[in-house]
Amino acid sequence: MARVFSGIQPSGELHLGNLLGALVNWVNHQKSHDAVYCIVDLHALTLPKRPEELRENSLKLAQLLIAVGLDPDKSILFMQSHVPEHSQLAWLMECTVSFGELNRMTAFKDKSGRNEFISGGLFTYPALQAADILLYDTDLVPVGDDQRQHIEITRDIAERFNSRFGNTFVVPKHVIPPAGARIMDLQHPDRKMSKSETSPAGTISVLEDHDSITKKIKRAVTDSDGEIRFDSNLKPGVSNLLSILAAATSSTPEEVATGYSRYGDLKIDTAEAVIELLRPIQVKFRELESDPAETNRLLKLGSSKAREISSVTLERAMTKIGLLNA
Ligand code: TYM
Repeated sequence: MARVFSGIQPSGELHLGNLLGALVNWVNHQKSHDAVYCIVDLHALTLPKRPEELRENSLKLAQLLIAVGLDPDKSILFMQSHVPEHSQLAWLMECTVSFGELNRMTAFKDKSGRNEFISGGLFTYPALQAADILLYDTDLVPVGDDQRQHIEITRDIAERFNSRFGNTFVVPKHVIPPAGARIMDLQHPDRKMSKSETSPAGTISVLEDHDSITKKIKRAVTDSDGEIRFDSNLKPGVSNLLSILAAATSSTPEEVATGYSRYGDLKIDTAEAVIELLRPIQVKFRELESDPAETNRLLKLGSSKAREISSVTLERAMTKIGLLNA
């Protein structure tokens, strides 16, 4: 069975972009693949965080992922910091990637431009992400569109390591969904919906209450030509609503566009589809929230299963690169 791996940061609120761009695909893949999913708490440290906030976000995200449909009996779900092989392989990856390659990463340029303190970890972030993926002999990485460059650099690192030291890593491919790969901010449809709290009116949280979802979608920025068609460049606001409705109803934006002639109707149906998609997730989350001990138990189980795989890959890489066996 092909192996699937993906990760998500415990920073800020889980939003509709994460759900439609990545998590829906994560849940689907666990049915037919050998799936491994990771909450990348070490990556979250690349930008300053309050310890209490990080702890709360990490536990809440684990509960949300289970509420979304990840089943710890069908897939492995674990916390990155509980599996030390990630940090260990990351060093080998840092020594395999070049400064120039890291310097070309658009995520670094973007985040370093918006933050006052720029950590070394923010710069070497892709090396840790490569370690995450390569540790599990991953074939497929389900992600949103914004992760393309990170998967590309992972492939380059794996290929370089393999050609220098002999076949060691599986070279992975990304899987990007046909609709929902890039959900945009409802108020600024030229930028992606994101966990940073700069645009609360443009972001829909997975735990958002239903009135607020309707209000935000009704107020979503569109345009003045009155025509409903999918064209992300010329009609970013309308196209974003079509993408959301399509992804929430397992359709395509072009297909859903044919059913509408008024923006108001499109907005009402999009809001309803989002509410229906989120309703069962919210109910399940409230149940899980009351039993943190159970979530911690599941995470512990997940990390011990993850270590069974990652320890073998790490040892293989350490031997190939020339480190003495301990
Ligand atoms: P993160 O935590 O920012 O996002 C998690 C997933 O959500 C997707 N996503 C979106 N999809 C569509 N529209 C949006 N507006 C949107 N915003 C976010 C992301 O593409 C991602 O799939 N670097 C990664 C975490 C990571 C990782 C990994 C991913 C660390 N190691 C190994 C895959 C494999 C990140 O920051 O994702």
